[in-house]
Amino acid sequence: MEPPASKNDNLQFILDERDRLEKEGLLVHVRTLESPQGAWIVVDGRKLLNLCSNNYLGLANHPHLKEAAHKAIDAFGVGPAAVRSIAGTMSLHSELEKKLARFKKVEAVLSFQSGFNSNVAVIPALVGKEDIIFSDELNHASIIDGCRLSGASVIRYEHCNPDSLAQKLGGHYPDSFSRRILIITDGVFSMDGDIAPLSRLGELAEKYNALLMVDDAHGEGVLGRGGRGAVDHFRMHGRVHVEVGTLSKAFGVVGGFVAGKAEIIEHLRQKGRPFLFSSAATPADVAACCAAVDFLESSDDAVRKLWRNTDYFRKKMQSAGFDTGRSETPIIPVMLGEAKTTQEFSSRLFERKVFAMAIGFPTVPLGKARIRAMISATHSKEDLDYGVEQFIDTGKELRVIT
Ligand SMILES: Cc1ncc(COP(=O)(O)O)c(C=O)c1O
Repeated sequence: MEPPASKNDNLQFILDERDRLEKEGLLVHVRTLESPQGAWIVVDGRKLLNLCSNNYLGLANHPHLKEAAHKAIDAFGVGPAAVRSIAGTMSLHSELEKKLARFKKVEAVLSFQSGFNSNVAVIPALVGKEDIIFSDELNHASIIDGCRLSGASVIRYEHCNPDSLAQKLGGHYPDSFSRRILIITDGVFSMDGDIAPLSRLGELAEKYNALLMVDDAHGEGVLGRGGRGAVDHFRMHGRVHVEVGTLSKAFGVVGGFVAGKAEIIEHLRQKGRPFLFSSAATPADVAACCAAVDFLESSDDAVRKLWRNTDYFRKKMQSAGFDTGRSETPIIPVMLGEAKTTQEFSSRLFERKVFAMAIGFPTVPLGKARIRAMISATHSKEDLDYGVEQFIDTGKELRVIT
C-alpha cells in the first residue's frame, strides 16, 4: 500500500512538547558563557557572581592545569585518533590512571571520556538480565541509563534509607541467592547535596554478598582526606567494589573513571563499551587531569577553603529563612517548590548579577523545584555575602521569605 499524498507533519510532536514544557515552566534555557569558569563569569555579556558551576576547587582555569594541557598538545597533538583498544593507548592515559589509583588508594583505575560514560560502561559489565540491581531512588540519570542498558531487574529503594534497602534485599532473598546483586548509590546526591549512608550500605552488601558501587561524582575532590571521596570519608577502603568518579567537577577538566580491584578494571578493558567503541579523552584533557591529581596530592588548602565557604553560605541562607533541604555539602539547594516561581527567582537573581540556575522536573521530582547554589573555593567572603543579600532581596520580593 502507498502512503497518503499529504503526509502528517511528523515533527509536530516536538513543537507540542516544547509548548508543554514552556507552559509548565520546565523549558531548559541554555546561557552562553564568554569567560573562563571562576567566582565571577561573563554570561550573555554581563559579569555575574557564579553560583552554578561544579568548579569546586577552582581548577577549571588553574595555571598549572593550563600549562600541563599546553605541553601535552606540543608532545602528543590534539586527539587520540581512535579508540584505545584499537589504536593503542597513549602513555598519558596510563599515567593518569596510575596517579588516580594512588590517590584513591585502590588497586587500579580505568579512565573514560566522562562520568556518564563510566556508569554506562561499568554497570552492564557487572550485571546482566539474570541479575538484580538495588538502586537509590534519587540516583543520577547516568546510573539509571547504565542500569537500563544492563537488562538487570532494577529495584529502587527509598532515598538514603538503609532500612528500605534492607527490606527490599530481604524480600528478594533467597531468590536472589543464585543471582548477582549490585547495590548502587550516588556518594553525594547532585540535586540535594546529601551524603549516602555508606557504612550501613556496606554492612548490607556484606550480609547479602552483593557488590557495592558508589558514583562519587560530587564527592571526588570534596569529601574525605584531601578530597579522596566518599569511601575515604567513611574509611571504607576495600569494602566498596566500584567507585565511579568524574574529572569534570572538582578536578576541573572533563572525563570520568572507575576505581576498584584490578580484576574489575581488567574486566572493564574487555567489556566496557565506551572504552571499546568510543575514542579516548584528548591529550590536553588527560594532562590537565594529571595536574589536578598532583594539585590535590600536594595540599588540601583548597578543599578546606571549599568547606569553610560552604558552612558560611549555608548558615547565612538558613538564618535568612531559606530551606536548604538535606544539604551537607557544597551543593546547597534553595527549595522553592513550584517550577514557575523557581524560574522567576532565578531570572530575578540574574538581573541582580547572580547566576544560579533553577532546577525543575524531570531533574528533580515534580513540586520540588529549587535553585541549586554551588559553592566553590574560588569565592571570597564578600562574594558569598553579595550572593546571600541578593537571595534575601529576591526572596522578599517574591514572598518566599519574610
Ligand atoms: C552523580 C553524577 N554522576 C555522573 C555525572 C556525569 O558526569 P560527567 O559530567 O563527567 O559526565 C554527574 C554529572 O552531573 C553526576 O552528578
